[in-house]
Amino acid sequence: MFKNPICVALDTPDPSQAAATARLLKNDIGLVKVGMELFYRSGRPGYEQVAAQGVPLFLDLKLHDIPNTVAQGLTSLMSLSPAPAIVNVHASGGPAMLEAAAKAVDGKARLIAVTILTSLSDADIHASGFDPRSGTAATAVKLAQLSKQSGLDGVVCSPRDIAAIKAACGSDFLTVVPGVRPAGADVQDQKRIATPRQARADGADILVIGRPITQAENPVTAAAAIAAELGT
Ligand code: C5P
Repeated sequence: MFKNPICVALDTPDPSQAAATARLLKNDIGLVKVGMELFYRSGRPGYEQVAAQGVPLFLDLKLHDIPNTVAQGLTSLMSLSPAPAIVNVHASGGPAMLEAAAKAVDGKARLIAVTILTSLSDADIHASGFDPRSGTAATAVKLAQLSKQSGLDGVVCSPRDIAAIKAACGSDFLTVVPGVRPAGADVQDQKRIATPRQARADGADILVIGRPITQAENPVTAAAAIAAELGT
């Protein structure tokens, strides 16, 4: 699918810095991830500066609106050049929105869904109006199933939810997993973490890794060490 499962979260609003990191790492990773901080600041030109480095790009904008607006938003994103390899929406937008999103993307990129943000606790999702009888894990599986039924390719999920989502949605349903830390690395603000090897053994398809690579003394060595640990 990609050169390897490592997706480096660039997490900077500065397109020149993001492009430089993408260029530096391009031979050792599978993808880069660019988010709203960069896209809202510099839009299409900023995006294209990064995408021009030739690394497949996950454009992490998490669309969430009525079906028509999300479909039109995704149609605009599909006209980016080169098009992103992965785009995403919030699964809680509902079946009609997810179906409209899948139709708009039409196989031009992988379309994945955010189920329950891992920053939310059981109490938070209750406060947000979700069924208090299901916790975050069960709700994430339910939203993953809805995403699959609506024609999406996969979900973003925590290392802890990979097995349940694969069991419910099948092994072909993509799991894109943040919270990955090489053994001995600084955990920083992540809570539910797994090593790259554990996450892959549990079935993760793509590992989203930011600071352990971007803030390493030598990012190329750090990425290559993770790739070697994965045997890719
Ligand atoms: O630096 P670090 O490896 O923690 O970066 C992880 C990336 O994954 C960041 O872009 C973060 O926003 C993202 N992410 C996450 N947890 C989620 C969803 C996305 O850490 N549940």
